[in-house]
Amino acid sequence: MNNEETEIKEKTRAILEGLESNRENLIPILQKIQEELGYLPPYAMIEVARFLNIPEIDVYSVATFYNQFRLTPPGKHSIRVCMGTACHVKGGHIALAAWQRRLKIGPGETSPDREFDLDTVACVGCCAMAPVTVVDKKVEAKADPTKVDGILLSYQLQKEKEEKENN
Ligand code: FES
Repeated sequence: MNNEETEIKEKTRAILEGLESNRENLIPILQKIQEELGYLPPYAMIEVARFLNIPEIDVYSVATFYNQFRLTPPGKHSIRVCMGTACHVKGGHIALAAWQRRLKIGPGETSPDREFDLDTVACVGCCAMAPVTVVDKKVEAKADPTKVDGILLSYQLQKEKEEKENN
């Protein structure tokens, strides 16, 4: 067992402690694990299957069926591209393509350095600012590819500044 596997299994066992081993609890159990770990790692799902005494595939099927569950670890920063009607009309798909190209990941994925995770959202209620991208809860208006570059550059500069300060 590698360190990550051991750590995830131990954390999952601690979460499961005291819970009732009842198949009907599967969804609340997965919600609790996601709340604590930020996502549903495969090792956690294996532990859940063992705890409920059900096949691993049953746990995996539920986790993949509901889009409330994340199967990849969250990034340090979340990027949510609005795909509501107004944003779509104003080029939301172009903004999404720009994020995908720059980060080299698709919706529902996390960059390999775990800096960013990317996903789409439905209307966030700021249609007048379309196309909108929500970055760490901050609504970025008129998020066209140039703006995407600007946002990423500011994160890059911030990261470099932090690294310098820590050295
Ligand atoms: S459609 Fe994007 S904010 Fe409304």
